[in-house]
Amino acid sequence: MSVETKLKDVTVSTFLKKKENKEKITMLTAYDCSTAKYFDDAGVDSILVGDSLGMVVLGYESTHHVTMTEMQIFTAAVARGAKRCLVVADMPFMSYHLSIEEAVKNAGELIRAGASAVKLEGATDFILSVVKRCVESGIPVVGHLGFTPQYLNVLGGYKIQGKSAENTKYILNQAKKLQEAGAFAVVLEMVPEESAKLITEKLDIPTIGIGAGRYTDGQVLVADDVLGKYSEFKPKFARRYSNLKDIISEAAKNYISDVTSAKFPDDTEVFHLSEEEHSALKEIIK
Ligand code: KIV
Repeated sequence: MSVETKLKDVTVSTFLKKKENKEKITMLTAYDCSTAKYFDDAGVDSILVGDSLGMVVLGYESTHHVTMTEMQIFTAAVARGAKRCLVVADMPFMSYHLSIEEAVKNAGELIRAGASAVKLEGATDFILSVVKRCVESGIPVVGHLGFTPQYLNVLGGYKIQGKSAENTKYILNQAKKLQEAGAFAVVLEMVPEESAKLITEKLDIPTIGIGAGRYTDGQVLVADDVLGKYSEFKPKFARRYSNLKDIISEAAKNYISDVTSAKFPDDTEVFHLSEEEHSALKEIIK
């Protein structure tokens, strides 16, 4: 039996080439097949199946509740919709912390689900070993530094990171270690623009910013923020390009009104019996 592995149009090399050529990398999160298809058709470089799905799709309070099974299901859905761009799947909380073997096995499960790369947070010695072993096993890795949501309780809240020269130096060192371990890109979240710019300039691998200003090699945003679907809260760094919340509410209200006033369905939206069968039916059921 021959196994065909189709490479996506956008690969790890595309990311590196874009940095070299000073072309911006575009990344959006997505969690379902149709949204992934629309983003892919629109030309985005990469889709991140972020563990932000815990909040925006599943209604959890934080990313801590997201499981490997959930990540596999949503990754597979996105991968079925995204034919061209690079699909990156987040490794969920505690799926890469217990042993290197378990971490690599879990990363492999996300690749089997359809991702082309995984993303993980932090750069402790243990995490760096995980990155190294994943890459040695053929699993491309994106790092994630600055504000790392899985460390929310340690960081003491949603706080901007790298606000001092010392802390920026610390993040830069972490980023360099991730690069050495084999990561092909690093997400910088909620870092001052000046810090992110310096980190970007000092790295060979691209930085993808979220709340990290204008000078990172690429940008990533959460789809629900971009589409205006997640209305609970809009982060300062996010830009809304649509207002799906209002569009969805309006559609639902119009539907309810049409059903309750018997305007839906109309004659174009129903199936009819033939006249012959209709007469026969009336005869049979008198
Ligand atoms: O889970 C996510 O959506 C992310 C982005 C915020 C980068 O990690």
